[in-house]
Amino acid sequence: YGKDGYNLWLQYAKIESPELVDAYRKNTHKITLPQNSSTTNIIKNELTKAFKGMLLTSPEFSEKNIENHNLVIGTRDNFPWLIELVDKKQLDSLGQEGFIIKSTFFKDQPITVITGNSDLALLYGTFEFLKLIQTHKSISDLNITSIPKTKIRVLNHWDNLDRSVERGYAGSSIWNWHLLPDHIDQQYLDYARANASIGINGTVLTNVNANALVLTPSYLKKAAALAEVFRPYGIKVYLTARFSAPIEIGNLKTADPLDKNVQKWWKEKAEEIYSYIPNFGGFLVKADSEGQPGPHNYGRTQADGANLLAQALKPFGGIVMWRAFVYSEDTPDDRAKQAYNEFKPLDGKFDNNVLVQVKNGPIDFQPREPVHPLFGAMPQTPLMMEFQITQEYLGQGTHLVYLSKLYEEILSTDINAKGPGSTVAKIIDGSLENHPLSGMAGVSNIGTARNWTGNHFGQANWYAFGKLAWNPYEKSEKIAKDWIEMTFSSDPQFINTSLDIMMESHEAVVNYMTPLGLHHIMDWNHHYGPGPWVTDKHRDDWTSTYYHQAGADGIGFDRTSSGSNALSQYSSTIQNQFTNLKTCPEKYLLWFHHLPWSYQMQSGKTLWEELAFRYQKGVDQTTQALQQWSTLEGKIDDERYKHILSFLKIQEKEAKWWKNACLLYFQQFSKSPLPQGVDDPKKTLEDY
Ligand code: GCU
Repeated sequence: YGKDGYNLWLQYAKIESPELVDAYRKNTHKITLPQNSSTTNIIKNELTKAFKGMLLTSPEFSEKNIENHNLVIGTRDNFPWLIELVDKKQLDSLGQEGFIIKSTFFKDQPITVITGNSDLALLYGTFEFLKLIQTHKSISDLNITSIPKTKIRVLNHWDNLDRSVERGYAGSSIWNWHLLPDHIDQQYLDYARANASIGINGTVLTNVNANALVLTPSYLKKAAALAEVFRPYGIKVYLTARFSAPIEIGNLKTADPLDKNVQKWWKEKAEEIYSYIPNFGGFLVKADSEGQPGPHNYGRTQADGANLLAQALKPFGGIVMWRAFVYSEDTPDDRAKQAYNEFKPLDGKFDNNVLVQVKNGPIDFQPREPVHPLFGAMPQTPLMMEFQITQEYLGQGTHLVYLSKLYEEILSTDINAKGPGSTVAKIIDGSLENHPLSGMAGVSNIGTARNWTGNHFGQANWYAFGKLAWNPYEKSEKIAKDWIEMTFSSDPQFINTSLDIMMESHEAVVNYMTPLGLHHIMDWNHHYGPGPWVTDKHRDDWTSTYYHQAGADGIGFDRTSSGSNALSQYSSTIQNQFTNLKTCPEKYLLWFHHLPWSYQMQSGKTLWEELAFRYQKGVDQTTQALQQWSTLEGKIDDERYKHILSFLKIQEKEAKWWKNACLLYFQQFSKSPLPQGVDDPKKTLEDY
């Protein structure tokens, strides 16, 4: 069962070491757990499954008895005596989702307590406790307090009602709209369980390129059935709201946010939705972008649009996640600047149940982008992070890329908005400006593929997203290590080798696709392979030549004051650092500067040579990953081993494709030979 990857990181593989098994059994064989909700029932099932798998035991459960028991799971309402063992202040500080796991004593008898202020907190604590066992840690002297740093931790499914998934590479949508609400697929429960195990507490079921039909009663019933399944796992359902819905499904003539009838329509719509889904989370909206309708159609602002929906949801406690991914059809200005230009002046104008959801970078989920300039620029507005988990521009379902490194790079960026130490993580968790609302969204990579994500390592990106949404300060390496052990094996060689491959993988993809700050040079529309030659689309900013600006005089997009001046949107510290060629990190060089081919890099090489070396390095990194993986044969099941091996072979082949195509293309302008050490493509540009 585990071999196809369906069980994700919840494999609960049998623990081989007799000493470990003994120690774990001693601490877990008698469990006190009140059974007063479906959530506590889920906890019981999870423990039963986990201990059966890992320890080959069936623990004895009791609801009240504590004498002779060793694991006690409950709130202080369940066990008033808990207050003597766990500090009351500490308990109060946990909120509704935080938990404590503590080794302590009850009447001189050693016990482990998992506690919190809700059954959901107990579920989160249980998963954390099980993770300790899955990763073979000691559980005899625990004192863990964990409180999520962000409030809204959501997956964004770009799933359409016909079950296709926009930018999805793992099969079709798992939402079977046709059979809902009558048939509840087991996969919905497994999905909820997996998400709860990493602290995800919301899911937007539908694509940001929205279909208003989802807001009609027949679909609301289907969404309500899913919400019902997810509720005991602490997961709220959200929907995408098409801005023109009042016209399309409401028979109104306009969707103008200031029109009274439109306002009334959304209010009634919200009321109707809550009658189906009492714990409905709210709306995610893409407006005025890539053909989506929005407030611009009526000469209104993004704040007018967001507040229209926010006011409708407010009486029910719902929120609006309003996307900042707005760029205009007809503005000739640098696309990297447009979201900032549009949103910055609106700071302070959004209702207090609105979050503005900002992509990590200013263009579009590139292999590497500098941080989005809106972070730090809207102090009065809670900004939500939007990461892509699906790998639209990073080799999609085929390439192994551990995205946590990308997430971490952005979250730990110090944008100096309020002096040094103003990291993006502090904006996202609300701590920099004391916002009560905070959140992180991840565009999901899940589909009907048996292993959920197509690429087995895609599971790691889902897992890491959840972990970073809970705690945006956590380190990618630690997350990866746990994930590998929970998913595959505890063998140290296996862990270390896979960890190496994962930790190197993001830099590798940047090298073989878009080194030194290059961006958006993927092939037209599907964004899979190389396409630096893409030109003559109906808008400039949908071509590659717009972004790389390669010519006889050099390469790169000038975003300094002599160019688009996008740099002026950042704090002065970042501006100075990135404007000065001596201090601009080379990883962002061609993002911000247009430089001659002969420009001298830190390595002493010319820009052209360095570019060629980076592409070669990316290829070499994939070759190395393949070799490293080959040493792991026999360490895990053959099925997953071979699946991953064949994907790594494709990745190596495609890294060469990228390198050859890009270097042959850019060579037309650099007019220089490839430096020694860079493999000859043995092809011509026409071959690509
Ligand atoms: C990218 C992606 C689109 C998506 C858009 C968005 O442009 O290619 O498919 O709709 O992002 O985030 O809205």
